[in-house]
Amino acid sequence: MRIGIFDSGIGGLSVLHRAVQIMPDADFVYYADEAHVPYGEKTKEQIQGYITEIIAFLLEKQVDAIVIACNTATSVATKKYRSSIAVPVIGMEPAVKQAAEQYSAVPGRILVVATPVTIFGNKLHDLLERVDPEDNVDLVALPKLVRIAEREGFEEEEIMAYLEEALRGYRLEDYKALVLGCTHFNYFKPYYKKVFPDRVKFVDGNEGTLRQLMRRLKVQKKEGLERTGKTEYYFSGRPVTAEEEKKIKRYMLRLDQAESV
Ligand code: DGL
Repeated sequence: MRIGIFDSGIGGLSVLHRAVQIMPDADFVYYADEAHVPYGEKTKEQIQGYITEIIAFLLEKQVDAIVIACNTATSVATKKYRSSIAVPVIGMEPAVKQAAEQYSAVPGRILVVATPVTIFGNKLHDLLERVDPEDNVDLVALPKLVRIAEREGFEEEEIMAYLEEALRGYRLEDYKALVLGCTHFNYFKPYYKKVFPDRVKFVDGNEGTLRQLMRRLKVQKKEGLERTGKTEYYFSGRPVTAEEEKKIKRYMLRLDQAESV
Protein backbone atom coordinates (compact mmCIF):
# COMPACT_ATOMS: atom_id res chain seq x y z
CA MET A 1 0.00 0.00 0.00
CA ARG A 2 1.28 3.42 -1.00
CA ILE A 3 0.00 6.66 0.49
CA GLY A 4 0.62 10.20 -0.70
CA ILE A 5 0.81 12.91 1.96
CA PHE A 6 1.25 16.54 1.06
CA ASP A 7 1.57 19.92 2.69
CA SER A 8 2.85 23.35 1.73
CA GLY A 9 6.04 22.46 3.59
CA ILE A 10 7.23 20.56 6.62
CA GLY A 11 4.02 20.82 8.66
CA GLY A 12 2.60 17.62 7.22
CA LEU A 13 5.62 15.73 8.54
CA SER A 14 3.73 15.75 11.84
CA VAL A 15 1.03 13.64 10.16
CA LEU A 16 3.62 11.38 8.52
CA HIS A 17 5.41 11.04 11.88
CA ARG A 18 2.29 9.46 13.37
CA ALA A 19 1.30 7.61 10.18
CA VAL A 20 4.50 5.53 10.09
CA GLN A 21 3.89 4.50 13.72
CA ILE A 22 0.41 3.16 13.09
CA MET A 23 0.93 1.92 9.50
CA PRO A 24 4.50 0.58 9.72
CA ASP A 25 4.23 -1.60 6.61
CA ALA A 26 2.84 1.13 4.31
CA ASP A 27 4.96 3.06 1.80
CA PHE A 28 4.60 6.83 1.87
CA VAL A 29 5.27 9.54 -0.69
CA TYR A 30 5.65 12.87 1.11
CA TYR A 31 5.37 16.04 -0.96
CA ALA A 32 6.30 19.44 0.49
CA ASP A 33 5.51 22.38 -1.78
CA GLU A 34 8.63 24.25 -0.72
CA ALA A 35 8.47 26.51 -3.78
CA HIS A 36 5.14 27.98 -2.63
CA VAL A 37 5.12 27.84 1.16
CA PRO A 38 3.46 29.58 3.03
CA TYR A 39 0.01 28.80 1.63
CA GLY A 40 -1.62 30.67 4.50
CA GLU A 41 -0.74 34.00 2.90
CA LYS A 42 -1.68 33.09 -0.72
CA THR A 43 -4.99 33.49 -2.56
CA LYS A 44 -7.54 30.75 -2.77
CA GLU A 45 -7.02 30.45 -6.55
CA GLN A 46 -3.25 30.12 -6.18
CA ILE A 47 -3.59 27.37 -3.59
CA GLN A 48 -6.18 25.51 -5.69
CA GLY A 49 -3.70 25.53 -8.60
CA TYR A 50 -0.96 24.04 -6.39
CA ILE A 51 -3.31 21.34 -5.11
CA THR A 52 -4.27 20.28 -8.65
CA GLU A 53 -0.62 19.94 -9.61
CA ILE A 54 0.35 18.01 -6.48
CA ILE A 55 -2.55 15.59 -6.75
CA ALA A 56 -1.60 14.85 -10.38
CA PHE A 57 2.00 14.22 -9.26
CA LEU A 58 0.94 11.84 -6.49
CA LEU A 59 -1.43 9.94 -8.78
CA GLU A 60 1.48 9.39 -11.16
CA LYS A 61 3.32 7.85 -8.24
CA GLN A 62 0.48 5.31 -8.08
CA VAL A 63 -0.69 6.10 -4.58
CA ASP A 64 -3.73 4.31 -3.14
CA ALA A 65 -4.86 7.36 -1.15
CA ILE A 66 -3.95 11.01 -0.68
CA VAL A 67 -3.85 12.89 2.61
CA ILE A 68 -3.98 16.68 2.41
CA ALA A 69 -1.89 17.21 5.56
CA CYS A 70 -2.62 20.91 5.47
CA ASN A 71 -5.62 22.68 6.98
CA THR A 72 -5.07 25.68 4.71
CA ALA A 73 -5.17 23.66 1.49
CA THR A 74 -8.19 21.72 2.75
CA SER A 75 -9.99 24.94 3.60
CA VAL A 76 -9.92 26.04 -0.07
CA ALA A 77 -10.18 22.58 -1.65
CA THR A 78 -13.45 22.11 -3.46
CA LYS A 79 -15.51 18.93 -3.55
CA LYS A 80 -14.16 18.11 -7.01
CA TYR A 81 -10.92 16.91 -5.42
CA ARG A 82 -12.80 14.24 -3.55
CA SER A 83 -15.28 13.21 -6.21
CA SER A 84 -13.23 13.30 -9.42
CA ILE A 85 -10.18 11.42 -8.18
CA ALA A 86 -9.94 7.66 -8.39
CA VAL A 87 -8.37 7.20 -4.92
CA PRO A 88 -9.64 8.42 -1.52
CA VAL A 89 -8.59 12.01 -0.72
CA ILE A 90 -8.62 12.84 2.99
CA GLY A 91 -8.43 16.46 4.08
CA MET A 92 -7.81 18.11 7.45
CA GLU A 93 -9.80 20.72 9.30
CA PRO A 94 -9.12 22.29 12.70
CA ALA A 95 -10.22 19.70 15.29
CA VAL A 96 -12.81 21.98 16.91
CA LYS A 97 -15.49 19.31 16.99
CA GLN A 98 -13.13 16.85 18.65
CA ALA A 99 -12.09 19.44 21.27
CA ALA A 100 -15.70 20.43 21.98
CA GLU A 101 -16.80 16.80 22.41
CA GLN A 102 -13.76 15.58 24.31
CA TYR A 103 -13.89 18.40 26.87
CA SER A 104 -17.63 19.05 26.92
CA ALA A 105 -17.77 18.40 30.67
CA VAL A 106 -14.99 20.91 31.40
CA PRO A 107 -15.91 24.58 31.78
CA GLY A 108 -13.96 27.04 29.65
CA ARG A 109 -13.52 28.31 26.12
CA ILE A 110 -11.69 26.84 23.12
CA LEU A 111 -9.04 28.75 21.18
CA VAL A 112 -8.26 27.80 17.57
CA VAL A 113 -4.94 28.88 16.07
CA ALA A 114 -4.35 28.51 12.31
CA THR A 115 -3.20 30.42 9.22
CA PRO A 116 -5.09 33.51 7.98
CA VAL A 117 -6.58 31.57 5.02
CA THR A 118 -8.03 28.97 7.39
CA ILE A 119 -9.17 31.47 10.03
CA PHE A 120 -10.96 33.76 7.60
CA GLY A 121 -12.19 31.01 5.24
CA ASN A 122 -15.82 29.96 4.92
CA LYS A 123 -15.12 26.33 5.76
CA LEU A 124 -14.12 27.04 9.34
CA HIS A 125 -17.05 29.41 9.85
CA ASP A 126 -19.47 26.80 8.46
CA LEU A 127 -17.95 24.26 10.83
CA LEU A 128 -18.37 26.59 13.81
CA GLU A 129 -22.01 27.14 12.93
CA ARG A 130 -22.52 23.41 13.24
CA VAL A 131 -20.39 22.58 16.28
CA ASP A 132 -20.30 25.81 18.30
CA PRO A 133 -23.91 26.93 18.84
CA GLU A 134 -23.01 28.64 22.12
CA ASP A 135 -20.20 30.75 20.68
CA ASN A 136 -17.57 29.19 22.86
CA VAL A 137 -14.72 29.27 20.34
CA ASP A 138 -12.23 32.06 19.58
CA LEU A 139 -9.95 32.22 16.54
CA VAL A 140 -6.42 33.58 16.09
CA ALA A 141 -4.21 33.59 13.00
CA LEU A 142 -0.52 32.92 13.70
CA PRO A 143 1.13 33.10 10.25
CA LYS A 144 4.61 33.80 11.56
CA LEU A 145 4.88 30.34 13.14
CA VAL A 146 4.82 28.78 9.67
CA ARG A 147 7.76 30.89 8.55
CA ILE A 148 9.67 30.20 11.77
CA ALA A 149 9.16 26.43 11.39
CA GLU A 150 10.20 26.49 7.73
CA ARG A 151 13.51 28.15 8.50
CA GLU A 152 14.14 25.96 11.57
CA GLY A 153 14.18 29.13 13.61
CA PHE A 154 13.23 27.49 16.87
CA GLU A 155 14.75 30.17 19.11
CA GLU A 156 12.80 30.45 22.32
CA GLU A 157 13.06 34.20 22.67
CA GLU A 158 11.57 35.05 19.26
CA ILE A 159 8.78 32.47 19.54
CA MET A 160 7.74 33.46 23.06
CA ALA A 161 7.73 37.15 22.14
CA TYR A 162 5.58 36.44 19.08
CA LEU A 163 3.09 34.26 20.97
CA GLU A 164 2.77 36.77 23.79
CA GLU A 165 2.19 39.59 21.33
CA ALA A 166 -0.32 37.66 19.20
CA LEU A 167 -2.28 36.45 22.23
CA ARG A 168 -2.19 39.71 24.16
CA GLY A 169 -5.89 40.46 23.69
CA TYR A 170 -7.00 37.06 25.05
CA ARG A 171 -7.52 36.00 28.67
CA LEU A 172 -5.59 32.75 28.56
CA GLU A 173 -7.01 31.55 31.87
CA ASP A 174 -10.44 31.36 30.19
CA TYR A 175 -9.40 28.48 27.92
CA LYS A 176 -9.66 24.75 28.40
CA ALA A 177 -8.32 23.71 25.00
CA LEU A 178 -6.06 25.00 22.26
CA VAL A 179 -6.80 23.58 18.81
CA LEU A 180 -3.72 23.46 16.58
CA GLY A 181 -5.39 24.18 13.25
CA CYS A 182 -2.20 24.16 11.19
CA THR A 183 0.11 21.18 10.90
CA HIS A 184 3.17 23.44 11.20
CA PHE A 185 2.06 24.36 14.71
CA ASN A 186 2.80 20.92 16.18
CA TYR A 187 6.49 21.85 16.43
CA PHE A 188 5.69 24.54 18.98
CA LYS A 189 4.02 22.49 21.73
CA PRO A 190 6.84 23.12 24.23
CA TYR A 191 6.29 26.87 23.79
CA TYR A 192 2.48 26.82 24.13
CA LYS A 193 3.03 24.91 27.36
CA LYS A 194 4.97 27.87 28.68
CA VAL A 195 2.40 30.43 27.58
CA PHE A 196 -0.89 28.74 28.52
CA PRO A 197 -2.03 27.70 32.00
CA ASP A 198 -1.40 24.01 32.85
CA ARG A 199 -5.02 22.98 32.52
CA VAL A 200 -5.17 23.86 28.80
CA LYS A 201 -5.22 20.73 26.59
CA PHE A 202 -3.72 20.73 23.10
CA VAL A 203 -5.77 19.16 20.34
CA ASP A 204 -4.68 18.51 16.77
CA GLY A 205 -6.36 16.76 13.86
CA ASN A 206 -3.59 14.28 13.06
CA GLU A 207 -4.99 11.19 14.75
CA GLY A 208 -8.54 11.81 13.49
CA THR A 209 -7.30 12.30 9.92
CA LEU A 210 -5.32 9.07 9.99
CA ARG A 211 -8.24 7.22 11.51
CA GLN A 212 -10.32 8.34 8.56
CA LEU A 213 -7.58 7.31 6.13
CA MET A 214 -7.47 3.82 7.63
CA ARG A 215 -11.24 3.55 7.56
CA ARG A 216 -11.29 4.46 3.86
CA LEU A 217 -8.52 1.96 3.09
CA LYS A 218 -10.10 -0.66 5.35
CA VAL A 219 -6.89 -1.32 7.27
CA GLN A 220 -6.27 -1.64 11.00
CA LYS A 221 -3.72 0.07 13.25
CA LYS A 222 -0.47 -1.88 13.61
CA GLU A 223 1.18 0.23 16.28
CA GLY A 224 4.37 -1.12 17.86
CA LEU A 225 5.48 -3.24 14.90
CA GLU A 226 8.82 -2.66 13.21
CA ARG A 227 8.77 -0.29 10.22
CA THR A 228 9.10 -2.24 6.97
CA GLY A 229 7.64 0.32 4.54
CA LYS A 230 9.61 3.01 2.71
CA THR A 231 9.14 6.78 2.52
CA GLU A 232 10.09 8.94 -0.47
CA TYR A 233 10.31 12.71 -0.12
CA TYR A 234 9.73 15.33 -2.81
CA PHE A 235 10.06 19.09 -2.64
CA SER A 236 7.77 20.72 -5.22
CA GLY A 237 8.04 17.83 -7.67
CA ARG A 238 11.71 16.90 -7.36
CA PRO A 239 13.33 14.31 -5.11
CA VAL A 240 14.96 15.85 -2.04
CA THR A 241 18.73 16.18 -1.82
CA ALA A 242 20.79 14.35 0.81
CA GLU A 243 21.04 17.65 2.74
CA GLU A 244 17.26 18.11 2.66
CA GLU A 245 16.75 14.55 3.83
CA LYS A 246 18.93 15.34 6.85
CA LYS A 247 16.81 18.40 7.49
CA ILE A 248 13.66 16.23 7.43
CA LYS A 249 15.27 13.93 10.02
CA ARG A 250 15.87 16.95 12.25
CA TYR A 251 12.19 17.87 12.01
CA MET A 252 11.19 14.32 12.88
CA LEU A 253 13.41 14.45 15.97
CA ARG A 254 11.85 17.75 16.93
CA LEU A 255 8.42 16.13 16.66
CA ASP A 256 9.56 13.28 18.94
CA GLN A 257 10.60 15.91 21.47
CA ALA A 258 7.43 17.98 21.07
CA GLU A 259 5.30 14.88 21.69
CA SER A 260 7.16 14.02 24.86
CA VAL A 261 6.82 17.36 26.68
N1 DGL B 1 0.66 23.45 7.27
C1 DGL B 1 -0.39 24.19 6.72
C2 DGL B 1 -1.69 24.06 7.49
O1 DGL B 1 -1.93 23.05 8.10
C3 DGL B 1 -0.19 25.56 6.14
C4 DGL B 1 0.99 26.38 6.39
C5 DGL B 1 1.19 27.46 5.33
O2 DGL B 1 1.75 27.12 4.30
O3 DGL B 1 0.77 28.61 5.55
O4 DGL B 1 -2.52 24.93 7.45
